[in-house]
Amino acid sequence: MSPSVAEGALQTWLAEAATQRQQPPHLELLAEHVLMTGVLSAMDREAATMVNGGPLRLEFWQDVVDFNGNFVHLSHRVKEESHLIPAMLAAGVLPADHEQAIRREHQAAKDLTLSLCDGVGEGDWEQVQRLVSLYVFRMRAHMSHEESSLLSHATRLSTAALARLRAGFDAVEAAALRGRSRLEIRRLAERISSASATR
Ligand SMILES: [Fe+2]
Ligand SMILES: [Fe+2]
Repeated sequence: MSPSVAEGALQTWLAEAATQRQQPPHLELLAEHVLMTGVLSAMDREAATMVNGGPLRLEFWQDVVDFNGNFVHLSHRVKEESHLIPAMLAAGVLPADHEQAIRREHQAAKDLTLSLCDGVGEGDWEQVQRLVSLYVFRMRAHMSHEESSLLSHATRLSTAALARLRAGFDAVEAAALRGRSRLEIRRLAERISSASATR
């Protein structure tokens, strides 16, 4: 999808009140990909500075683990795995091999995030750098794959299925963010990006 569609989706994602959301599910997930893409770029930049002798900055990586663990894993991926994928399989608009690939990639991302957490805790910059390089490479490919399969085919769902997804997505996000707003999540992503850019 084009950058302008993605940026428009992010603006709507930020503007809608939590109790009255109407953004279609595929655009909600696309908006979240915009934030995730920015964080991946920041992780890449920060890892490159460590290769060049920079320190392992705990506060930076703790923000990254917070974003990837609490927002991406517990909210974004649960919307996909527990709601969008089952709805699309039921409607016959997602091939089974796509579903299996997406679930495998999510599991790999979860494992890498947990290992990254360990690497940061141990202060092992080489392990962190290696894990970041794998995570960034795999997640860029994963999001691109989702945008051309999962998200583009989601537009074929019925109005009733979309309404069920709306309710399901809202419940997942409320449970995952536990009182944090979308604006706070965007600020977290921006803090990560600006911290890596100012080195
Ligand atoms: Fe995903
Ligand atoms: Fe996604």
